[in-house]
Amino acid sequence: MIQVAIFASGGGSNAQVLTEYFKDHRQIKIAAFFTNKPSSGVIHLGKKYQIPCFIFNKEEFNNDKFMIKLFTKYAIDFIALAGFLWLIPPFFLQRFDRKIVNIHPSLLPKFGGKGMYGMKVHSAVSDSGLDHTGCTIHLVNEAYDDGDILLQKSVQIKPKSSPDTIAKAVLKLEHTYYAPTIENYLQKIFIEYQPNNILK
Ligand code: GRF
Repeated sequence: MIQVAIFASGGGSNAQVLTEYFKDHRQIKIAAFFTNKPSSGVIHLGKKYQIPCFIFNKEEFNNDKFMIKLFTKYAIDFIALAGFLWLIPPFFLQRFDRKIVNIHPSLLPKFGGKGMYGMKVHSAVSDSGLDHTGCTIHLVNEAYDDGDILLQKSVQIKPKSSPDTIAKAVLKLEHTYYAPTIENYLQKIFIEYQPNNILK
């Protein structure tokens, strides 16, 4: 089994969709939730799906020994961020090289970077007058919203739509594409790649 940890601090609707999608999966398992917010939706999800859920503070999050102990205990192979706002520290990136993904509610690099999250993104799209927006699923590196892009999907909107209307349209895309994109990527990096297939 490929053991996936979900980091989420908001309502947790993406975490919910991922958990449902992989519930009976033969190769991929949502093994743990991690959050810095006691009000996060994943607390409820952990109870509902009997998946361990950890709440940590900033000091613990940046403490490599503390976090690595948890990753080891739950044999975490891969991390999916779903509404998690803190910058990922370098020791995460070393341990999970190209094995951390994020979903961002705009067509990066537009409306991304530090401070661009949640409704701030949708308000900026609304103010821009653009007639489309979308979501981006990307690998995580040391900068905000900057890693290699795995998938982008766009959606038409009426220029100057309200941020709420834009958020709804984008969330629908996120719920449709995040799980299958993670599944395809995991199949590519963990399953199709067999060292024995390499000609010596
Ligand atoms: C989503 O829009 C996602 O793109 C962003 O944070 C939001 C999380 O929403 N990274 P939810 O908590 O999954 O409902």
